[in-house]
Amino acid sequence: MKSKALITLLSDGQVHSGESLAGQLGVSRTAVWKQIRRAMADGFKIETIRGRGYQLISRVDLLDYDAVLSQLDPTLRPDLALRVLDDVDSTNAEVLRQIAEGGKGLPVTIADCQTAGRGRRGRTWRSPRGENLYLSMGLTFHGGFAVLDGLSLALGVAVANALEQLGAADIGLKWPNDIFLPTGKLGGILVELQGELQEGVVQVVAGIGINVHMSEAEGVDQPWSSLGSAYPGIEWSRNQVAGAVISAVLDAARLFSDRGFRDFRGPWQKRDIFSGKLVQARGGEINGTGCGVDENGNYLLRTEQGVVPVRAGEISLRVAS
Ligand code: BTN
Repeated sequence: MKSKALITLLSDGQVHSGESLAGQLGVSRTAVWKQIRRAMADGFKIETIRGRGYQLISRVDLLDYDAVLSQLDPTLRPDLALRVLDDVDSTNAEVLRQIAEGGKGLPVTIADCQTAGRGRRGRTWRSPRGENLYLSMGLTFHGGFAVLDGLSLALGVAVANALEQLGAADIGLKWPNDIFLPTGKLGGILVELQGELQEGVVQVVAGIGINVHMSEAEGVDQPWSSLGSAYPGIEWSRNQVAGAVISAVLDAARLFSDRGFRDFRGPWQKRDIFSGKLVQARGGEINGTGCGVDENGNYLLRTEQGVVPVRAGEISLRVAS
């Protein structure tokens, strides 16, 4: 975003004269005016107050590299290769590129906007500029693909806990990878696997999308929610949410490496939105009551024939109507 420096200066909501903005940005007053026009074309509402200057009216919550890092435990910071981008096709794709480049540190990418955000099952993930969190992290595990059972559920628990600590009560999890509020889907997790680089070493890209400020989502075909609309009393900052989620995912990945899914199973079941509900799987082929997950993260349905496990990736679950 070309007008980021200008918006940062205006983000205090005060009136700034063209002269002072020009001085601080090191450009002419004409250049300031051009930047104001460009920022307005990017969707920022800026008022020109005659004889006084410019005032930003719209809410801004800019992503900032240092602000994200400042949320993390100082001991973690040197281990991360953090990229904070204005635009990217997909943060998952960017982390895959970071891995291919082979630099130092655990790859983490956050972007202000995605032009080709990816959802599960080949869907597009709506990623409007400045509204939400689009975050991906490259995680390494040892022991081959078999050790990854339940990983995406464990990450869901980590994200839910992090959001709860920031004040979002009522976070539920919808098997396998959705973060839910009572009013609808708040976010999702897309785990993509890279082949084994060396024997037994698996590289996972964990992509996390959380609706933070989004207030309209044309064409989204299911109920959805955002932190801002569900908890209007909290001043949500994407940098803070990013920091909290990164820390939680790092902790969860460490625990998962040591102990697998077992420590996450109980916390996952507590947030299970299908628990005790009549649920359909395989397009109606199986009907049963939701009763949590097994030790591998498969969903369990209590049916007339007994408890049936439903495998991730196989089907989607929906409440029977
Ligand atoms: C879902 O379908 O529920 C999963 C959505 C995952 C979206 C996130 S946004 C950050 C990361 N980059 C992507 O392209 N997708 C994931």
